[in-house]
Amino acid sequence: MQKNSFYVANAVDFMRESMPSDCVDLTVTSPPYENLRNYDGYEFDAEAILAGLFRVTCPGGVVVWVVGDKINGGRSLVSFEQALLARDIGFTIHDVMIYQKKNTPFMRSNAYTNCFEFMFILSKEKPKTFNPLKQPTKRHGMETAVSNKGPDAVNRKVPVELKKEKTRTNIWPYAVGLGGSTNDRIAFQHPAIFPEKLAEDHILSWSNPGDLVFDPMCGSGTTCKCASQLGRKWLGVDVSSTYIEIARERCLSVQCELDYA
Ligand SMILES: C[S@@+](CC[C@H](N)C(=O)[O-])C[C@H]1O[C@@H](n2cnc3c(N)ncnc32)[C@H](O)[C@@H]1O
Repeated sequence: MQKNSFYVANAVDFMRESMPSDCVDLTVTSPPYENLRNYDGYEFDAEAILAGLFRVTCPGGVVVWVVGDKINGGRSLVSFEQALLARDIGFTIHDVMIYQKKNTPFMRSNAYTNCFEFMFILSKEKPKTFNPLKQPTKRHGMETAVSNKGPDAVNRKVPVELKKEKTRTNIWPYAVGLGGSTNDRIAFQHPAIFPEKLAEDHILSWSNPGDLVFDPMCGSGTTCKCASQLGRKWLGVDVSSTYIEIARERCLSVQCELDYA
């Protein structure tokens, strides 16, 4: 296995044959969504992929597993099934986050419009890295507050400084589609990309520069492109040579470090 490279392979075989144990700091990936999309031919075994990921993830490493449910007469809850599989394999379900889609929501006539997918944060032991992302607070600057009453029962007004920013919640909204998910037109030759900003935000949160970021089902290469731009090492695998070609082209267009396998 060479870092900063894409490989055409079944992820289960690739991990077993080419990757040592405990070598990956962070995985950001998204499995095929049941038979929702017509990918370029694949074989998908969630349990085998999750077991492989558990072996190659270093202690304290994290896997971000982005998944939605099929909705057809009810939710399939495959998302939860996969999360429970991951827990049985040994991962801690460190968090269940929501990827909220700001546009193109899935309409239903007899239920509320679906506009989210799950982002399961799976950790091998306790996460070794957490760089919390912040957001600006609505009110900040100096404000007068009433201090606790002392023994004299007098309310005193004291100036306090409100913080300029706070740690984000675990619901992350993103625009999707061209100009939202990415500006790379070629990426849309893949049927199910996730937004670059989503990948970036997880890479910044759960890894540090120089760490190895992996995507075993990399599709159009979103995770790998973002990892490279953020100074991480990266590794991308997909079963489809068509998608790997798209991923290579995207990476070349931003001149990411590419060591061809
Ligand atoms: C939801 S897409 C990933 C899209 C990617 N996150 C992006 O932004 O472009 C899932 C990908 O898994 C790949 N895939 C399915 N089974 C696989 C397997 N066993 N090994 C490797 N890749 C697989 C499919 O070819 C597809 O590109």
